[in-house]
Amino acid sequence: MKYLFLFWLFVIAVASEEQRCDVVVIRGDKYEKQVLKTDVHAPYQLAMDYQTKTLFFSLSAEVGGKTVLKSAYFNLRTNEYGEISGINGGMANAVDSLKHTVYLGGKDGIYEYDFTTKKAKNLGITDSSIWQMFFCPVHGLFFTTYKPDEKSFVYHDEQVQPVAGLTDTRTRLIAVGEHHDIFFANSSGLFIYNMHTNVFINLGDYNVNGFARDVNGKLYFSCPNGIFFPNDIQKKIEPLVLVRDNSIYGVTFDGDNNMIYASEDSIVRLVPTTKTC
Ligand SMILES: *[C@@H]1O[C@H](CO)[C@@H](O)[C@H](O)[C@H]1NC(C)=O
Repeated sequence: MKYLFLFWLFVIAVASEEQRCDVVVIRGDKYEKQVLKTDVHAPYQLAMDYQTKTLFFSLSAEVGGKTVLKSAYFNLRTNEYGEISGINGGMANAVDSLKHTVYLGGKDGIYEYDFTTKKAKNLGITDSSIWQMFFCPVHGLFFTTYKPDEKSFVYHDEQVQPVAGLTDTRTRLIAVGEHHDIFFANSSGLFIYNMHTNVFINLGDYNVNGFARDVNGKLYFSCPNGIFFPNDIQKKIEPLVLVRDNSIYGVTFDGDNNMIYASEDSIVRLVPTTKTC
């Protein structure tokens, strides 16, 4: 009995030691996990505003027995967090850094975030239920509509147009790669579409839940099982982070190009470190 007790003590000591180890190794480099925000349920579609260092994302809440999606923000400089009011639902987020406009997608269209009032205002450019958005400085604001239609559009020069070449295909999420190829995901997987050659390439059966560009314009995407990036030249996908517990909800990058990802109840940043544990 005495020995059994000692054995348990040992196991507990090891377990708590492991919890303190917050260093992960990615492609040979060490990163420390910084938990930025906890108590956020299912944070999806992260988008970063570099100018104010504010992260925008959606989250789920239970209201009267029903799950509702909400838009929220978290300021990395001040740690201020809040849910954004004035929006009906709230799933999609995208930032135009040049104009310093934050777009939020709700059930009845696209909204703009007002930094002063911290409220969203419907821009009246569509009345569709928005599922995802991606801002491209060249082509404009891409967005997809919610099930069952899953259509893709681009908003540019105050006009909404269907994305040329994709009118006959379902698109749940859409993004533009470094070399202006269109990446899109639907329930069949991830595809790349070349606007000039009209060619579709199936990149694999990825269950994409978010796209993000880093500060250099390189495209990444997240799936429940990890974070990946397309190797545009070889037209294949490379993994950056793989997790065993399907816990990744989204990815983005801060202004210093540190990766930020969401898991079921928190938002974490990975910063380079020399620490060992
Ligand atoms: C997803 O897109 C591809 C490429 O356009 C298409 O072949 C496939 O049928 C689509 N999947 C669904 C479920 O519509």
